[in-house]
Amino acid sequence: MVLRHAISMAVIGLAMATVGSSADAQTRKTGDAVNGRILSLRWCASCHSLGRRPSPKAVAPNFAWIKTHRSANQIRSFLFAPHGQMPRLDLSRRQINDAAAFIKSVDTDPKSGRSGEI
Ligand code: HEC
Repeated sequence: MVLRHAISMAVIGLAMATVGSSADAQTRKTGDAVNGRILSLRWCASCHSLGRRPSPKAVAPNFAWIKTHRSANQIRSFLFAPHGQMPRLDLSRRQINDAAAFIKSVDTDPKSGRSGEI
């Protein structure tokens, strides 16, 4: 009985570990918006508004605009090879995924009463 209990606990533990690791793998691929926000505040906010406000650098579109006009893939491709007036920031693949996830999570609803920054 005790052994059976131990085995079922082990099976549950294993199942949870599997779920946990596949969730991590998923986050690695789709990015982590919370991390993306932190790095955006640090690396992007001097030029881009992270929400719906006008950007500090007028030629840099705000993140709400980018969210509605670009797919996550387009954002990631751009960040791998920035061009135009956007400087190369040498972000890692993970940082790029996180930044794209954050941009895609920006609140673009003007009725929400928030500026669009999470
Ligand atoms: C020194 C200013 C500056 C910084 C810092 C900066 N950007 Fe930009 N970014 C720009 C400018 C200017 C453009 C417009 C490029 C153009 O079209 O010439 C741009 C364009 C973009 C675009 C493409 C928009 C489109 O039209 O598809 C994305 C995505 C983007 N930036 C994301 C970021 C992210 C994420 C960060 C931080 C990790 C960042 N940028 C940091 C200036 C900056």
